[in-house]
Amino acid sequence: MSRIPAPSSLQKQEKNKQVFENGAFSKPFAPSIQKAAPTIKRTVPAVQRAGIKRPGESQVALSEKKQRINIGVTVRRNVENSHNLAKVAGFSEKAKRAALQPIAESALMRGSMPAISVSKSKPKRPAWDLKGRIQDMEENFQSAQQINSTLNDQLIAYNQRILALEEANTLLHKDVEIKASQSEVASSQASNLEKQLREKTEDFEKKLKGKDDAIYKLKEKNSELSNELSTLRSDYENLQNTHQQETSSLKSSITCLICSKSGLQAELDATKLLVESLQEEIKQLTKMKSDTEFENKNLLKNVGNLESKLLAEESTRRKLHNVIQELKGNIRVFCRVRPPLPDEIKNGIQLANITTPDNKIIEINQMGDVGMNDSGKAQKKYEFSFDAVFPPSAFQQEVFEEISQLVQSAIDGYNVCIFAYGQTGSGKTYTMEGPENIIDFASSDYESHLGMIPRSVQKIFKCIQNLEPRGWKYRVEAFFLEIYNERIQDLLNSDSVSGNAKCEIIKSAGKGNDCLLSNVTTSTVSCAEEVYNLLKKARINRAVAATKCNEYSSRSHYVFQLKIYGENSLTDEKCEGILNLVDLAGSERVKDSGSAGDRLTEAKAINKSLSNLGKVIMSLSKKENHIPYRDSKLTHLLANSLGGNSKTLMFVNISPDNENLSETINSLRFATKVNQCNIGTAQKRVK
Ligand SMILES: Nc1ncnc2c1ncn2[C@@H]1O[C@H](COP(=O)(O)OP(=O)(O)O)[C@@H](O)[C@H]1O
Ligand SMILES: [Mg+2]
Repeated sequence: MSRIPAPSSLQKQEKNKQVFENGAFSKPFAPSIQKAAPTIKRTVPAVQRAGIKRPGESQVALSEKKQRINIGVTVRRNVENSHNLAKVAGFSEKAKRAALQPIAESALMRGSMPAISVSKSKPKRPAWDLKGRIQDMEENFQSAQQINSTLNDQLIAYNQRILALEEANTLLHKDVEIKASQSEVASSQASNLEKQLREKTEDFEKKLKGKDDAIYKLKEKNSELSNELSTLRSDYENLQNTHQQETSSLKSSITCLICSKSGLQAELDATKLLVESLQEEIKQLTKMKSDTEFENKNLLKNVGNLESKLLAEESTRRKLHNVIQELKGNIRVFCRVRPPLPDEIKNGIQLANITTPDNKIIEINQMGDVGMNDSGKAQKKYEFSFDAVFPPSAFQQEVFEEISQLVQSAIDGYNVCIFAYGQTGSGKTYTMEGPENIIDFASSDYESHLGMIPRSVQKIFKCIQNLEPRGWKYRVEAFFLEIYNERIQDLLNSDSVSGNAKCEIIKSAGKGNDCLLSNVTTSTVSCAEEVYNLLKKARINRAVAATKCNEYSSRSHYVFQLKIYGENSLTDEKCEGILNLVDLAGSERVKDSGSAGDRLTEAKAINKSLSNLGKVIMSLSKKENHIPYRDSKLTHLLANSLGGNSKTLMFVNISPDNENLSETINSLRFATKVNQCNIGTAQKRVK
């Protein structure tokens, strides 16, 4: 018996089918075949379901069939699994058997199907062989019947198998449902688990982070602590070192102390001895002290005697000083030649030929049309002699040394008058006060240039200080007056300078009396600095007045007056002296012709007062009865300081400029006249 082709050998089946169609089943046999056909047709779905390839089946269907077969294997495996699961799920025994059915089915698929044999085609019988042809047909019919029965068997088998498969399918569906529900449960469990896992993870991560932070902090702390530890260790080591050093130094100092203690002990012993000897010395000294005290008392007595002697000596000195001044003459004349100024040198000044062969003589050689000398040059020689001649190089200090004795006389109670006479620009103001630009007389910048007024003031206050221990107390009053156009003005009073307060001589100077002035400020001064302030004030007021007239300063006389009152509490002596320092108006002759108005008035006033000064001096020297003091304000003001009871000194200042030579000669002539006067003996004004 031939085997039915296995479901896998579909091509063979195809071949068989062709056999049917191509003549094996010729039309005469068609009804029987058609009889079998419905059975075959009915089985088709079952066969299809079982996965057997049929003719005309597409390749897709074929692969589906293969899949199903594979599924069958998988299903079997699943069934095995589900058998186990079914136990859990409570499947029936029938279901289990049905699940195991595919094993029989596969056996059926593999070849337990009834085999269909097809007789080999015989050679075609000739048409006449009807018997043979009928025989062939019968044979074909039999084989077709056989095939039919085999196919029926197969159909039955397939139907059975289909049933089994359907049952298996139902089981599988159930299985799938179970699996699905199980899967749902599992997925919900999984999602729960996942959620839990996520929560746990988050929680864990938080904890982990917390732990990390804690670890970081701990690490930081650890590093801090280790740093601290290292610092502490180094501190400890340092302390140990210091401790060791201190210990060793203490040990050495203890040894030193022990040594010095013994030394001190020795010293103490020596000191004790010294104290004893000193005590002895003290005893002796106490004795000496009482002796010395006794001696001191005697000495003090002697000092008293000596002091009274000194006072007597002081009076003698004053008398002698006066005698010397008298011997020098009561009117003296000093000549001072001004040096050429930097501006004059720059402008090529022609210097006059002035020489000072000694400190009393001045010589002038005048060049020009004044007469011929032996060498044919026009020349005239002048020689003047004075009490002192100061060359251009003389310093203020040198000049002052020569007048300081006169200043001293004023303290001793004499009236002193120091004039500066000369033409404008000859150095009168410089000699009396200092350079015209000084305002602050206390400034050290100008110290060497200070004139006779500030130097006299310094000397007076120094003398007053020196005389204090000898019982002398002084009061000093200062005045600063100006005589302009025969008007007296108080330079320390701005109202007076502006012409608002008129100063008048209200009491004439008589013998031993000073003249009194109205509207004059009396400033009591106690030191040089106070006088400097007055000088400053006077300079400022003068500058205001100078704005009225171009040459104002050279047109007026300045009279600085210090009245010095002294009293000695030890000797009961009293004295009163006046120091007048006068900067006269320019002596140059102003020609009356050509001058008019103020200038003429000024010229007349100056000529009058200067010539009257000369007249007064002349009258004094001639010892005339009438001395014309009142003929000018200047002589009237100075009446008490000119003449009999006073000491007078005149500076004649001259310019080095050749252009000023004739004025220079005039000044020197006037000074010579004054110098030749003997105006009597000065008298001390003792009250
Ligand atoms: N001995 C001197 N040394 C230096 N400069 C002088 C001297 N005498 C005068 N002068 C200067 O010469 C100029 C004229 O002198 P000044 O005293 O004003 O003259 P006067 O008062 O006679 O008109 C001033 O600038 C002054 O400082
Ligand atoms: Mg002047």
